[in-house]
Formats: sequence, C-alpha cells, structure tokens
Amino acid sequence: MTSCCFAILNCCKGNSSSEEPAEGIAVNNNVRIFSYNSLRSATSNFHPSSRIGAGGYGVVYKGVLRDGTNVAVKSLSAESSQGTREFLTEINMISDIRHQNLVELIGCCVEGTHRILVYEYLENNSLANTLLGTLSKHVVLDWPMRAKICLGTALGLAFLHEEAEPSVVHRDIKASNILLDRNFDPKIGDFGLAKLFPDNVTHVSTRVAGTVGYLAPEYALLGQLTKKADVYSFGVLMLEVISGSSSTKAAFGEELLILVEWTWKLKQEGRLVELIDPELINYPKAEVVRFITVALFCTQAAANQRPTMKQVVEMLSREVHLNENLLTEPGVYKGHKTRKLNGGGGGAAISGGSSSSHGIKYKKAMKTSPSSSQFNSSNSLTQMLPR
Ligand SMILES: Nc1ncnc2c1ncn2[C@@H]1O[C@H](COP(=O)(O)OP(=O)(O)OP(=O)(O)O)[C@@H](O)[C@H]1O
Ligand SMILES: [Mg+2]
Repeated sequence: MTSCCFAILNCCKGNSSSEEPAEGIAVNNNVRIFSYNSLRSATSNFHPSSRIGAGGYGVVYKGVLRDGTNVAVKSLSAESSQGTREFLTEINMISDIRHQNLVELIGCCVEGTHRILVYEYLENNSLANTLLGTLSKHVVLDWPMRAKICLGTALGLAFLHEEAEPSVVHRDIKASNILLDRNFDPKIGDFGLAKLFPDNVTHVSTRVAGTVGYLAPEYALLGQLTKKADVYSFGVLMLEVISGSSSTKAAFGEELLILVEWTWKLKQEGRLVELIDPELINYPKAEVVRFITVALFCTQAAANQRPTMKQVVEMLSREVHLNENLLTEPGVYKGHKTRKLNGGGGGAAISGGSSSSHGIKYKKAMKTSPSSSQFNSSNSLTQMLPR
C-alpha cells in the first residue's frame, strides 16, 4: 500500500503547480486521482445548484464525470490540513475496504489546499432525508424495505468491524450516514473519514457534546471508543427505522424522553408495539418486536453486554427467540449545560429511563472487566436465547 502511495506522490511531484496532476491514475486499482479542474467541471464549478448537502466535514456536490458517471463530490473543509502523503495513505486504506453495504470511494483530489473525496452517487439520498426528512423528501418505506435497511447496515458494519483490514470503528453511525441506492439498499458512508482529520479537529469529537441520541455514553463521557460504541449507535438507528422518528429531534411522552428511553419505558409497560411507525401497515408483528428487542440489546448501558455486529446480523437474519431476562436498561447520553466535556463545547449527563439511580448502575456496569463480557464467548448469541 505504501509503495502505491509513493507512486502517486512521485507522479504529482512531476507536475509543476500550474499544470494539472495526471487524472484517473489507479492506485491499488481502487482509487483514482482527480484534478481540481476536472471536479470543477463535473460540478458546474461547484455551483450551488449541484450542492446536495453539507456536514461537519464539508460540502457535498453532485457531479457528473466526463464518461457520464454520477458521483458525490465531498469537498473537505480547511481543517483537513493533513499532508499529501498522510492523506493518500488514509485514502488508500479506505479505498481498500469494499462491501456492498459500504459507499464506494472512487477517488480523490489533492491539489494545493484542496482535499476532495469522490464517492459513488446514491440515488435515494440518506435515510435521514428519506425516512425522517421533510415532507418533500419523505418516502413511505414498508416493512420489508425497513428490514433490509437494518440488515444491510448491520452487514456493512459487521464487515468494518470484523473483516476489514485494519478493522474500522465508524464512530458516527447515524441516519445521515446511511445512503440508499436506487433499490433502497443501504450503504454506510463516511467510514474512516474521522481519520482524515487530526484528532483535535475532527468534527466527530467536537460534536460529542452536542449530539443527543446516537452516542454511547461511555464514548461521549469517557472517550472510550470501541466497536461497541458503533453497536450502540446502530441500535438507536434501528429504533429510528422502526419508529420513523428521529432520535436527535423527537421527544416522547410527558417527560420528553428521547427515543431509547421511550422504547425502554414502552417495553417496561408492555406497550412496545406503540413504538412502531403509524405509517407501517401490514407488518409482521413478531418480527418487528424482535428487531426492537435487538435494538435494546445494542443500546444497553454496559458496552460489554451489547452484542457484536456479527451477532446482530444473526439475530436479524433468522427467527431467534431472544432471552429478554438478560436485557438490561439502556444507557443514555444527554447534552447538559453545567458539566464540561474534555475539549468539547458542552457537557453531558447520563440517565436511564425514569430511574434516578441509573447513573450509579451505569458506573458499576462500566467497571465490569471486558473479559467478563457475556458477549465475548463464541456461544454468546445462545445466551440471549431461552435456555
Ligand atoms: N454518496 C452520496 N450520494 C448521494 N448523496 C450523498 C452522498 N454522500 C452524501 N450525500 C448527501 O450529502 C449530505 C451531507 O453529507 P455529509 O456526510 O457531508 O454530512 P452528514 O452526513 O449530514 O454529516 P457528517 O458530516 O457528520 O457525516 C447527506 O445527508 C446526503 O444527503
Ligand atoms: Mg455523512
């Protein structure tokens, strides 16, 4: 991989600053180098009408390459001041990771201060727009579509965690990072992107204080970043897919609970079906309830009690009966104005449902040695099944 990277560098060096770097160079047969000019013409000079969105990393444009291929052109903001070599090394790493449920990185542009990523274009935009967005972008998704979105996302995440080399913790699983292709098959975007930014400026870490709803409490509060933080976020995402409600925007009940808390309350009160999106009709109730239960397993307070993504795939793929006696209360991270987080702009509090002692319970769970995890052993899935 390193030698390929140097091959690009040498090639770029060969061009004086006034010349365009050679375009379309294959690196590991996976990633192409685009000139800034070619991306400018692909996006009508980065015209506002080509703009399809913006996030913490920069602005995304729809582009059309000379051969007619549609692409999503993500222009990274200035904080991505990584050197060319480091940038290309990361790009090579990301572009090597390929799976049907991951958005494909086609290439990039590194010219002067420009750092631009070129991705395959997904016709049906993000889950955030399609499922949770404004009326004009909203699409009614039936249960088979929602089930395949959950399963496909789980497969993509399991690949990142367990098969990619090196394995990748996504860090920012959320509805806007799940893109949908023309058949509404899901693809996870932005994996590995946090690595392109120096640690202190990644928007993910600065946003830790601000995002309510997706962040695993141990990551938000203690900075403990493991695959289980992704599992937590995935659980929240599933609840959004099933309820049709945004975890970051909606509040539920008189106590204005967030989605995970609300789900737990409904479960405790035997009213779980009330979580299901009223737009859904003719759904298989037992299967939908199983999916909700899997989501609750994913969002448990103690990271080591959450399943791995591989186990999640299994639980979603077949009719397993989950041992709900093992299910513990979710951990919840909430923005809080009075306590400051390391380096973040805000603070945090932990709570769990209506139980005021939950913070203590959570801390106890956090102290559990990872080696005692019920999900670490190979037969751990069966521990969730009736004995
Ligand atoms: N490959 C793609 N194909 C089609 N649309 C895309 C693609 N990638 C991104 N988008 C659109 O661009 C929007 C912005 O994406 P971007 O990743 O920059 O921001 P975000 O996902 O909202 O936040 P974050 O920066 O935290 O990931 C997405 O919500 C989606 O609508
Ligand atoms: Mg994104």
